[in-house]
Amino acid sequence: MLTQLDEIEKTALAALASAQDETALEAWRITHLGRSSPLMQVFDQLGKLSKEERPAIGRRANEVKRALEGAQAERLELSRQLALARSLQSERLDVTLPGRPFPKGRLHPSTQILRRIYRIYAEMGFQAYRTREVESDEYNFELLNMPPHHPARDMWDTFHTSSPGVLLRTHTSPGQVRVMREYYPEPIRVILPGMCYRYEQVSARKDIQFNQVEGLTVGYQITFSDLKGTLTDFARRMFGEAVRIRFRAAYFPFTEPSAEMDIECFLCEGKGCGVCSGSGWLEILGCGMVHPVVLRNGGYDPEKFSGYAFGMGPERIAMLRYRVPDIRYFWTNDLRFLEQF
Ligand code: DAH
Repeated sequence: MLTQLDEIEKTALAALASAQDETALEAWRITHLGRSSPLMQVFDQLGKLSKEERPAIGRRANEVKRALEGAQAERLELSRQLALARSLQSERLDVTLPGRPFPKGRLHPSTQILRRIYRIYAEMGFQAYRTREVESDEYNFELLNMPPHHPARDMWDTFHTSSPGVLLRTHTSPGQVRVMREYYPEPIRVILPGMCYRYEQVSARKDIQFNQVEGLTVGYQITFSDLKGTLTDFARRMFGEAVRIRFRAAYFPFTEPSAEMDIECFLCEGKGCGVCSGSGWLEILGCGMVHPVVLRNGGYDPEKFSGYAFGMGPERIAMLRYRVPDIRYFWTNDLRFLEQF
C-alpha cells in the first residue's frame, strides 16, 4: 500500500504539470483529491488495516494529501499570476501619452467686457434694466428732445422698418424715458445695456450693430460733480488706478451741459501714436446732465429733480483694452479671433 501511495503521488503531480488554467486545476482536484479519488479510497480502507500497518500507511496517506494540496495551491497561484501578466500585456495603457485636447467654450469678448461693466456699476449701486431693441421714433428721438426734422437726428444713421415710426434703436438712450416713466417719482440709478443698430458704411471703426451701456440717475440735487466722480471711479476700476482721464465739452440734444470722456492712450501713454491718431487721448463715452425737456418727458419736474446720463460702447472699450484693430471682428464669428479671449 505504501508503494501504491507513492504511485498515486507521482501520477497526480505529473498530471498537475499540464493543468494550465483554473478550470483545469479544478478538474484535477476532483480527480486526484475528490471523494472518489484513489487517495480517498486509501483513506476509506484504513479502517480495514491491521493495527501494525495502520499508523505508517495513515501517516503516509496524510503526507501525500498535504503534498498534493500544497502543489495545487502553488500551481493555482502561478496560473493567476500568469493570467494577470497576460492581461496587463494585452490591455496595455500608456500613461505617458498626451491627453486629447477637447474644445472649451468661452465668453465672447463683448460679453466679458459687459460683465465687467455690470459688476463695476453694481458695486456703485446701479441696477441693470433692459429695454427694447425695436423702438419707436418717439422714444428714440422725439422724447429725447429731437422733434421731427431736428438736424441732430443726422448724428444717428437709422434703420427704419416698413411700419412708419418703428425703427431699430440707434442708441440705448430711449431707455432713459422708459425707465423714468416706470419709476416716477422714485429716484433712479440704472444702467441700460443692449444692442444698437445703425445704417452705417461698415469700416474698421464702425459696424451696423454694437452694444451700448447707458447710465441714468435722477434725484434731488444731482450735480455735474456726481457725474464726473462716478465716471472717474468707473475708469479707475475698468482701466486701473493710474489711468488719466479728461472731460471735453460736447453736444447731445438730450443733455445740457454735455461732455465726452477720454482716457489717456495706453499705448503711447499720452505722447501720441497711431491708435489715438496723435492726440494722446481715446474717447470712450458721451455724457451730460439730463436735459430739462427729457426729465419732463419722463414725468419728473426739472425744477425739483436733476440727473446725469452717459452712454458708452463696450466694443470700443474692448478694442482699447485688447488692442483690437477692427470692429468687424466682433460679429463675424471667426474662431481665430474669438479664441484669443
Ligand atoms: N446716445 C449717445 C450716442 O449714442 C451717447 C450718449 C451721450 C448717451 C450722452 C448719453 C449721454 O446718455 O448723456 O452717441
